[in-house]
Amino acid sequence: MSALFIPPDYFRELCREEIFPDATRPLEVELGCGDGSFFLGMAQQHPERDFFAMERMLGRVSKTCRKVDRAGLTNAKVLRLESGYTVGWLLPSASVSRLHLLCPDPWPKTKHEARRLVNQEEFLIGLMRVLVPGGEFLLKTDDRVYFEDALVSFGKRAEFERLEWPSDAFFYPTTDFESHWLAMGREMHRARWRLR
Ligand SMILES: C[S@@+](CC[C@H](N)C(=O)[O-])C[C@H]1O[C@@H](n2cnc3c(N)ncnc32)[C@H](O)[C@@H]1O
Repeated sequence: MSALFIPPDYFRELCREEIFPDATRPLEVELGCGDGSFFLGMAQQHPERDFFAMERMLGRVSKTCRKVDRAGLTNAKVLRLESGYTVGWLLPSASVSRLHLLCPDPWPKTKHEARRLVNQEEFLIGLMRVLVPGGEFLLKTDDRVYFEDALVSFGKRAEFERLEWPSDAFFYPTTDFESHWLAMGREMHRARWRLR
C-alpha cells in the first residue's frame, strides 16, 4: 500500500516535506475519510494539490489506499490515526489550506457530546495551529445537533470568519455517507469557515 503513510515519529510534529516533498503545493486534509470516495474524487480532480486523509478503521484505510494506488495517484496519502490527536499534535503548523470534516460520527447522546470534535477545545486550537492564514475548515453533516454545536463553537472564535458556501461554489464530490443520507431523504447541513 504505497498510499499508506506511516509517520517517522508519532510523538513529534511532522515536517510538511515528510508528508509530501514539495511544500509549495497546497495541502488538503480530510478527517474520517471512510471509504475514500470524496478523497479520491478530490485528488483526481486536483493533481496540483496534495491530499492527506485520516481514518481510524483499518478496513476503511485499506480500502482508500487501494483506490489511490489503483488510480496511480501520487498526491494522496492516508494515515491510520485518530483525528483529534493528528490535528492537535502531529500535523505541521501553518501547513493546511483546507481541512474537511464530512459526515462525522454524530455522538447523539448527551453524555457523549464532548466527543464531538467541534466541541473540543484541543481540536479548535489544533485547527488554528495547522491551517495556513486564510485556510478553511469545511463541515457537512446530516445531524442538526452536531451542526448547531459547530455554529456555537466557531461563533465564539473571533479567529474564524464564516463564509458563504453555495452548492455550486466549487468542485466538491458527494461522500459515501452523504449519498446514503440523501437517498433516505435526509437534509444535509454545510458550513465553511476561514481562519482570519
Ligand atoms: C460517519 S463516517 C463518514 C465517512 C465519510 N466521511 C463519509 O462521509 O462517507 C465517519 C468516519 O470517521 C471515522 N472516524 C470517526 N471518528 C474518528 C476519529 N476520531 N479519528 C479518525 N477517524 C474517525 C470513522 O471510522 C468513519 O469512517
